[in-house]
Order: sequence, then structure tokens, then C-alpha cells
Amino acid sequence: MNSWRLAGLSFAALAVAAVAARLSDSPQIWHLNRAAGFVSYGLLWVSAMAGMALPLRFRPLRTRQSVIFELHRVTGVLALAFLGGHLYAVLLDPWISFTPIDVLLGFTAPYRPLALGLGSAAAWLVAAVLATTALSSRFSYRTWRNLHRLAFPAYVLAFLHLLLAGTDAANPWVLAFAGLTAGAVGGMATLRLFGTDQPQIPRQPANSSPTGPRYAAPGR
Ligand code: HEM
Repeated sequence: MNSWRLAGLSFAALAVAAVAARLSDSPQIWHLNRAAGFVSYGLLWVSAMAGMALPLRFRPLRTRQSVIFELHRVTGVLALAFLGGHLYAVLLDPWISFTPIDVLLGFTAPYRPLALGLGSAAAWLVAAVLATTALSSRFSYRTWRNLHRLAFPAYVLAFLHLLLAGTDAANPWVLAFAGLTAGAVGGMATLRLFGTDQPQIPRQPANSSPTGPRYAAPGR
């Protein structure tokens, strides 16, 4: 199944669950909000790790690079779907009335505006990274790659949002999860900084114009 269709179905399922949770007049919508937020963050983390593994040629268990590329691509798109579910649940929250503007800007929200502002900035950057990848054939490889690096601040902002926005940040399991994931990204990013700068396995024919990501046909 096309990854965008899978993401659309995932978002639709989350939206239906959010409406059902809202109608049930219980804290379920709040649990759904946090669960979708954690899954979105987790997928973002996997996508960031797989993305950095590509140019580093890091292949755990000798996994093929094309598989790592698929993991990077599909988890990135699914992170957006779960982010959509997270935001839809925020909009349906019966205790604090968030407006669409609050969700888009965060800093205007009536609850923890700094934390939500960081989340909104992360969400915009994630959307920009995915949109420019879907449209990668319109950019030179260098421009696309520079835009793709917005994924780094996106991850950092999402991490800060996780620590500052929710009710679970004091939970030792959440702190351990946040610390381990951020430590792993920090380690990979350090290796990446001192490692090779160019992807090693171009998939495009040598005479084609160098646009978009090089590991597989873009825009799927
Ligand atoms: C890439 C973007 C985002 C990611 C990965 C993300 C992830 C998360 C996570 C993991 C939590 C749970 C934290 C905890 O319970 O300790 C959370 C909480 C929350 N997020 Fe986001 N979020 C993002 C963007 C946003 C945006 C744009 C908004 C709305 C402006 C938002 C609103 C909230 C709210 C209101 C909570 C608190 C839930 C509670 O009451 O505990 N998030 N988010």
C-alpha cells in the first residue's frame, strides 16, 4: 500500500476514535491525545535515526540500505498522520477550548503556550520536510538536502515539547524514553557531523538531473 494512503487511513482511524472518545464524555480523548503524541514522536525518532543511518552506511543486522530508506520514508509519513490525530484530539478537548489558530501557532493557546508553541514549530517543520520531499523533483539535490535538514530542529523542538507540554514528563519511564531516544539521536548526529557528507549509493541513472533524494524514486 502507498505510504500516503496508509497515513490517510491511520489519520481517519484516529479521527473516528477521537470523535467516539469525545462523545463518550470520559477522559479517553485525553489519553488518545497523549498516545497519538507519543507515537508521533516515536515515529519521528525512528525516521531521524534511519535517515542518519543512510549516509553513514550504518546497517544493523546487515539490513539492506533500500530497507532502511523505506523505514525512513514510511515512518516520516506516518509521524505526520499521528501528529494529525494528536492535533485533532487537542481540538476536541472538552476541558480546554483550543481554537484552530492555537493549534497552528501554539503560542496563543490557553494552556502552556511556550510548550505548545514549540510543538507547533516542530509540526510546521515536519510538514515542510515531508512536502519538499514529496515535491523533490522540483528542487536541485543540494536545495532539497538543505531543506531536509530542517528535520534536525524539528526533532529538537518535538523533544522539548514532549518534556514541557504533557502530564507524563515527571514519569520516570517517560524520562527514560526521552533520554534514551534523544541520546541516540545526539550520538548519530555527532557521527553524522564527522562522517561522510554524501549518500554513497545513487539510484538514479548517471545522466539524469540530480534532483531530490538519491536513495529511491522520490514522491511515492
Ligand atoms: C511534531 C509535533 C508534535 C509532537 C511529536 C508531539 C508530541 C507530544 C507528546 C509525546 C506529548 C505527551 C507529553 C506528556 O504527556 O508528557 C504531547 C502533549 C501535548 N501536545 Fe503535542 N506534539 C506535537 C505538536 C503539538 C502541537 C502543534 C500542539 C498544539 C498546539 C500540541 C498539543 C499538545 C498538548 C495540549 C499536550 C498535552 C496533553 C496533556 O494534557 O498531557 N502538540 N505532545
